[in-house]
Amino acid sequence: MNSLPSTDLVETLKSQGQQHLLAGWEQLDPAGRQYLVDTLAGFNWAELRGLYEKRAEPAKLPDLVDAQAPVVQLEEPDTALDALGSVALQRGRVAVVLVAGGQGSRLGSDLPKGCFPITPVTGKTLYQVHAEKVLALGKRHGVTPPLFIMTSPATDRPTRDFFSSHGHFGLDPDRVFYFQQGTMPAVDLATGKLLLEAPGKPFLAPDGHGGCLSALENQGHLAWMQDRGIRSVFYFQVDNPLVKVADPNFLGRHLRAESQASSKVVPKRSADEKVGVFVSMAGRCHLVEYSDLPREMAEQRLADGSLRFAAGSPAIHLFSVDFLRRVASGSGQGGLPFHIARKKVPHIDPGTGERVQPDRENALKFERFIFDALPQAERWLLVGVTHEGEFAPLKNSAGPDSPATVRLAQSRLAAAWLDRRNIRFPADERGNPLVPVEISPLVALGPDDLRGLQLPEPAEGKPYLLDDPDNL
Ligand code: UD1
Repeated sequence: MNSLPSTDLVETLKSQGQQHLLAGWEQLDPAGRQYLVDTLAGFNWAELRGLYEKRAEPAKLPDLVDAQAPVVQLEEPDTALDALGSVALQRGRVAVVLVAGGQGSRLGSDLPKGCFPITPVTGKTLYQVHAEKVLALGKRHGVTPPLFIMTSPATDRPTRDFFSSHGHFGLDPDRVFYFQQGTMPAVDLATGKLLLEAPGKPFLAPDGHGGCLSALENQGHLAWMQDRGIRSVFYFQVDNPLVKVADPNFLGRHLRAESQASSKVVPKRSADEKVGVFVSMAGRCHLVEYSDLPREMAEQRLADGSLRFAAGSPAIHLFSVDFLRRVASGSGQGGLPFHIARKKVPHIDPGTGERVQPDRENALKFERFIFDALPQAERWLLVGVTHEGEFAPLKNSAGPDSPATVRLAQSRLAAAWLDRRNIRFPADERGNPLVPVEISPLVALGPDDLRGLQLPEPAEGKPYLLDDPDNL
């Protein structure tokens, strides 16, 4: 590597007002210089400038005045639909995509959130719960869906190491694919200059879970799926241990409707619940993020007192592979728009080299959201489920959506399944079992799987665990 940056690079940076990115060049070793040159070559300057110029514009939202409450099917048992979904699984037509680029920072952990122990009795991690659900699907249907795990630069290595040090939780390692999402630089709110994390290192942040679309497409995974006859992608977030991974009923509904994008819906528990809401606009499905939903709209009520915008998103979707490819090839990177968020980003001052620890929002970060693909679907479907049955996300270290509430939600659900087999637990006035109750996904993915098993009676005051399918 030359001791000076190329004239082209210097000219480009000058024309963009970004020469400060070369601060400290002389002190960089050849590898550091190469890294900087390669990183800068990957930036789309026109796009970054365009995004910065849009910083003061309000987020582009559908005109909610015209928004309708969308039609939501209920997830009722239906053997014909279950059979349709099961056949798709048996024929290997389904892939599973888990987005896991986030760290457990709100949980006070530097590890990927998937490594957080969460089951109420054995303390299995989120990753193990999800992997065992995929494994159980494979045992049941004879074909294990390939599991694609989206990581970010911070979660990639620890996620791979975690899976491999745990024997991939019984999954065939050749059917577990890790793919890294892209990154976007953070820019200074006041000047539009890219921030530096260290000399020669622009500050890069993951490009949002919508980044999975371009990452899947650009890394060849969607083509791989198509080549193998995979038609549907089941998409979910790492934080929800109640998720029913690729459940046949949901698949059956999606396939029967020839839907391009199907989503599960939970009724919003309150105007403040931090979930996006689905609305229907001119025949298309849109998801309005909770932070974008104006307060008066979040609180609007119908004559019967229920919330007008009540179709909450647990972030569980089924997409047809053809649809994802079409969106990915659309305009803009990955076919999805960027959302602009104001954040506090520590960085170095390129003039003095000193660290700056901002005490208020000083930067813009850019993220894409997978649900922005929804309005591009001509055929879509919403399926109503309950929080109790399918949604208990782990977000915070205390209070709502924290380890305590998520463990309790798992115990409640397991106890509800066991109740159908006349196994009951003492409970508090809210119906919460007084002991932790856990059923491994390898034993049952739903209450029907408990039929015909020899279930032990609970011992008073002791945790209840069904962990080993060979011992029941
Ligand atoms: C998200 C949804 C919200 C939904 C709720 C359900 C957004 C903007 N909002 O909210 O509509 O109702 O979940 O729980 O997504 N992730 C990546 N890469 C990234 C960013 C995130 O993989 O660059 C993953 C995280 O690992 C996590 C998921 O995306 O699995 C959601 O991210 P999170 O920040 O927890 O979203 P929420 O604000 O809780």
